[in-house]
Amino acid sequence: MSLELFLYLGAKTLMLAAPLYITNGCALLFGGKTPMDLNTKFIDNKPLLGPGKTFKGSIRGILCGTIASAALFFALPILSTPEGFGANYILLGFLLSLGAVIGDILASFLKRRFDLERGKSVFLLDQLDFIVGGIALAAIIYVPSIVEIALLVVLTPTFHLLGNFIAFKTKKKQVPW
Ligand code: CTP
Ligand code: MG
Repeated sequence: MSLELFLYLGAKTLMLAAPLYITNGCALLFGGKTPMDLNTKFIDNKPLLGPGKTFKGSIRGILCGTIASAALFFALPILSTPEGFGANYILLGFLLSLGAVIGDILASFLKRRFDLERGKSVFLLDQLDFIVGGIALAAIIYVPSIVEIALLVVLTPTFHLLGNFIAFKTKKKQVPW
């Protein structure tokens, strides 16, 4: 692969990652009180989703992700051309954001079935749920290449570690990982 092609695919990967991460981050930052499962239990008598998935978090997350993709599109109109994604980038950003929230909700549903309390971390499921959900829904209009998917999967733990390190430095977390 030429360096040019690698940089091109890297830039595209970042443009896929942006709505996904912003949605996830804003759901966390702007989450609210009312849980989406309205405290209902599933047939196994365990919480359907748990209190970590709120209406405010989901809606604000999707809004932030979509607004971010609109801003990126206005800064870089090439994103919607055939040289970019060959699809409307704002719509792509919306689908990535909506899918990210759905993937995250499905992961919580699964975690509750296995008796894992809200916030109990499951390595890889927690990091990849929103990526897989976003990419799967966005595939309606844009199917990423294998290289883009591989880069996204590698980027994720990197960003995650960086975020945790910042949280550690700003004393919001006890350990830097
Ligand atoms: N959040 C929210 N709405 C969402 C997603 C997240 O309000 N749709 C907020 C909640 O305050 C949540 C926090 O962001 O606690 C962190 O999100 P996440 O890690 O996905 O949830 P957890 O608390 O870890 O819960 P779970 O075990 O269900 O993943
Ligand atoms: Mg979590």
